[in-house]
Amino acid sequence: MRTLVRDLRGKLDETVVVYGWVNTLRLQRVMQFAIVRDPTGMVQVVNRRGGEDARLEQTLDDLTVESAVAVTGRVVDNPIVKLGGLEIVAESVEVLARADVPLPVDANTNLEQRLDWRFLDVRRSAQRLTFDVQTTVERAMRAVADAEGFTEMHTPKLMGTASESGAEVFRVDYFGRRAFLAQSPQFYKQMAIAAGIERVFEIGPVFRAEPSFTSRHATEFTGVDVEMAWISGVEDVMAFEERLLVHVLEEVKARHGAAIAEHFGVDVTIPAVPFPRVTMAEAISRLRSAGWNPEGDRVDLDPEGERRLSALVAEQAGHDFVFVTRFPVGVRPFYHLRPDDDPTVTESYDLLWKGIEITTGAQREHRYDVLCKQAVEKAMDVTPLTDYLNCFRFGTPPHGGFGLGLNRLLMVLLGLSSIREAMFLFRGPGRLTP
Ligand code: 4AD
Ligand code: MG
Repeated sequence: MRTLVRDLRGKLDETVVVYGWVNTLRLQRVMQFAIVRDPTGMVQVVNRRGGEDARLEQTLDDLTVESAVAVTGRVVDNPIVKLGGLEIVAESVEVLARADVPLPVDANTNLEQRLDWRFLDVRRSAQRLTFDVQTTVERAMRAVADAEGFTEMHTPKLMGTASESGAEVFRVDYFGRRAFLAQSPQFYKQMAIAAGIERVFEIGPVFRAEPSFTSRHATEFTGVDVEMAWISGVEDVMAFEERLLVHVLEEVKARHGAAIAEHFGVDVTIPAVPFPRVTMAEAISRLRSAGWNPEGDRVDLDPEGERRLSALVAEQAGHDFVFVTRFPVGVRPFYHLRPDDDPTVTESYDLLWKGIEITTGAQREHRYDVLCKQAVEKAMDVTPLTDYLNCFRFGTPPHGGFGLGLNRLLMVLLGLSSIREAMFLFRGPGRLTP
């Protein structure tokens, strides 16, 4: 039966079997040492040369780093051993799968080459931790959604018409016809609202044909999409997102806080609610007085503006999050609702975390005639929008929601320098493998 490395302390003086990978080897004249790693930790395995079992000595001499092994041996207390003050005196070592030499990557290899060998890269505990944290994040999100009466949906990723704008959409051959990969579940989650599913969420793949080579863009990522009906304003959506993120961070801190501090040097903190809110107009004027946008021609934030705004808010309000609200009509899609008191802006927001956009949300326009008018105004071709627009002809309540990039969230949470490390297998304009 397998014993996990973290449980060895309770097995002192017993013979155990540990399954794992050879992390390092030290084959000395008198002693042979192998550090074996499993998902719960590392243990030193030791053998004194010249023992009765010559095969064991030979096996250890022939071992290679990253081979998959089963080690049988006695657990002994040894205070001078750094790994838990114990070691395993080997009785036998079975090589279940030998690793080739040399290894194509190590901790010093550059990121692109590590991505070529991502499965080896992820064997390192910091990389694996990323996916444990991701699992906790998703579980915490589902817990909040469940407690607040949401229904989890899975909408198609193959579409006959381009979602949203039509730009940034991958085209695929669909039995000789043209199909598109969904760049957002936007229209389908609204269709679910029209279907009477009052609170919807989905965690699923999102495709973007953006030729962006930045550290925060991928062509395929995981989106967390939320849509809620009968809202009285976009504020309801923002308040829900605050509750969601606070619970996510509480869970992450409780389960992984210490490991995140150890491996990534990041202290997970629980943000105070409400998060600061600033309208786009205010944001731009505050940034202008701080020297950004000297020509005064910007109506939207660029990445530099986002970083600077977050820095200002962190300095003045001591908060890592900021909601930027009331984006101008010109930089928002046709389906965003415009407030009665100012038709030049939308009831929408971006949520920035430490200078990076992690979410875009909005109240949607639910009135059929207004929606059609706004589509025409934006010079949209309404024919491909027929199925979408039809959703608003038969009684669809006021609603709003948001799309949050799960990988962006992980990237900021763990302080990763690139989104490439915040997903198992990155997809970008220059990368379709492995
Ligand atoms: O801001 P986006 O494009 O908004 C939408 O998709 C809307 N339909 C959402 C809504 O409900 N109104 O995408 C949502 C989030 C972004 O805030 C960002 O976190 C992430 O998705 N995202 C990306 N992540 C990685 N790579 C990319 N190329 C991304 N593009 C957006
Ligand atoms: Mg956005």
